[in-house]
Amino acid sequence: MLVSKLALCLFLLFKFAIGEDPYRFFDWTITYGDINPLGIKQQGILINGQFPGPDIYSQTNDNLIINVHNNLPDPFLISWNGVQQRKDSWQDGVHGTNCPIPPGKNFTYHLHLKDQIGSFFYFPSLAFHKAAGGFGAIRILSRPMIPVPFPDPAGDFTVLIGDWYKTDHKKLQARLDRGRRLPPPDGVLINGRGPNGASFTVDEGKTYRLRISNVGLESSLNIRIEGHLMTLVEIEGTHTMKNIYDSIDVHLGQSLSVLITANQPVKDYYIAVSTRFKRQLLTITAVLHYSSSKQPVSGTPPDGPTNIDYSLIQARTFMTNLTASGPRPNPQGSYHYGSIPVTRTIRLANSAEIVNGKKRYAVNSVSFIDPDTPLKLADYFKINGVFNLGGITDYPTDAAMHMDTAVMDSDYHAFVELVFENREYWLQSWHLDGYSMFVVGMDRGQWSTDNRTRYNLLDAVPRCTVQVYPQSWTAVYVALDSVGMWNLRSETWARRYLGQQFYLRVYTDSNSTRDELPMPENALLCGRVAGKLAHT
Ligand SMILES: *[C@@H]1O[C@H](CO)[C@@H](O)[C@H](O)[C@H]1NC(C)=O
Ligand SMILES: *[C@@H]1O[C@H](CO)[C@@H](O)[C@H](O)[C@H]1NC(C)=O
Ligand SMILES: *[C@@H]1O[C@H](CO)[C@@H](O)[C@H](O)[C@H]1NC(C)=O
Ligand SMILES: *[C@@H]1O[C@H](CO)[C@@H](O)[C@H](O)[C@H]1NC(C)=O
Repeated sequence: MLVSKLALCLFLLFKFAIGEDPYRFFDWTITYGDINPLGIKQQGILINGQFPGPDIYSQTNDNLIINVHNNLPDPFLISWNGVQQRKDSWQDGVHGTNCPIPPGKNFTYHLHLKDQIGSFFYFPSLAFHKAAGGFGAIRILSRPMIPVPFPDPAGDFTVLIGDWYKTDHKKLQARLDRGRRLPPPDGVLINGRGPNGASFTVDEGKTYRLRISNVGLESSLNIRIEGHLMTLVEIEGTHTMKNIYDSIDVHLGQSLSVLITANQPVKDYYIAVSTRFKRQLLTITAVLHYSSSKQPVSGTPPDGPTNIDYSLIQARTFMTNLTASGPRPNPQGSYHYGSIPVTRTIRLANSAEIVNGKKRYAVNSVSFIDPDTPLKLADYFKINGVFNLGGITDYPTDAAMHMDTAVMDSDYHAFVELVFENREYWLQSWHLDGYSMFVVGMDRGQWSTDNRTRYNLLDAVPRCTVQVYPQSWTAVYVALDSVGMWNLRSETWARRYLGQQFYLRVYTDSNSTRDELPMPENALLCGRVAGKLAHT
């Protein structure tokens, strides 16, 4: 006994000495299976038989080795929403970086959670798979010795919220392929369950953490809990100032954590989630169950807010807790993003049009079309003609919408101001893979350079996904310190599918693995690079 303990100690000491971070192994089998969340049997995408997929529990600096076996009859990929694969877009799991896993084959992702904490989710990135499931939660806990700016909660719940269609994902996809828009969703799910299907049990007097992610396709969602206030503590890997809200908007692709205390009379309470900024209001409820309660939920669930300004004003109250310890983005070796000179401004405007009789969506007039070969591999093997480098401008143009496999080039270490301009009457949500973007400002109307004077240059929250209100703008700062080919996309899934995305290539001609990790040994090859030898 003693000997084995000593051996373990020596082993750990050795691991520590060579600086190797712990490994966690996952073996996932992807299948189609029947699910029934809204009372109608439909085909879902299951991971190890589960819908939603299993939670990933992990800790800062872990190595996650995730072997994904694709038992679908279709090509498949999983991507990691907000989990940063620094200098390693090879693991990103989107069409521009990875070859699809063919039916019956597997691919092993290697994610390194270097200096990360927080709540995120994974999702299937190809076709319209996300409408069938295949998503799940990722939580990265702080290492044991690192203080967290709130007491350890008595429990920690995953709350995946998202709108949902009863229609099969292939029918939705076929409809988009025909150039039609999607109909409004049929409902909203909480952890894959329909009305009052999800239940969270709490003990009276105790405090719990809820990790909330919007994994849906079309709708911003508002969440609130009957009789209880929520204390915001984390947004996409950053500890925030502990502001208190009675309801919170979570936009497509966003994640955050709140604390709730079971400090109300013992009974069951509604957790209500409803769509925002839509003509049609969809609401779903789940149950907050006090463990000793014998009184089920009753009456009407609490109403949500209805105006846009509520959401905009709330978003401006989200701030980083600068005194909380924990990993923090460190752009250019300075923890003060506000004092770094901006080297490039990129303004991106979304648009929707009919092209050749079909609905398409674009960024700066370019509607993206998927290449036959992942862009990252084309770059690696120096295959010309796969993508159009510089095919998208740094500012909105009045040009007619056109289709292109557009890649925006950028210099490694550039410090970029990105302004998302939404001239449409539709709430937009933008996501950038591989990076956090400091949300320095947002407002109604047209952005102008005057708006820079009121940017938050002190404690803005770095996010992977930012909302842009209808006829409004959102400005972010991002330090391009991670080489790779990174997807910038609308999180409105039909918009992304019909072209509202592109890739940002962060490039250096250095061949050093300090700048970019090498292509993995197990990389799948396809398209114009099929049959090439990796590492030539
Ligand atoms: C497929 O899984 C096997 C083990 O089951 C593993 O050895 C192999 O590396 C995996 N393939 C890829 C491409 O990751
Ligand atoms: C910020 O973090 C500090 C340090 O952990 C903590 O004591 C404080 O309560 C936090 N402040 C807010 C407003 O969240
Ligand atoms: C942005 O600029 C416009 C026009 O100059 C101004 O009306 C608006 O208040 C500004 N908003 C912010 C948040 O600075
Ligand atoms: C990187 O490698 C390529 C080809 O192997 C070579 O042409 C290039 O000069 C190298 N770059 C640097 C900065 O050494």
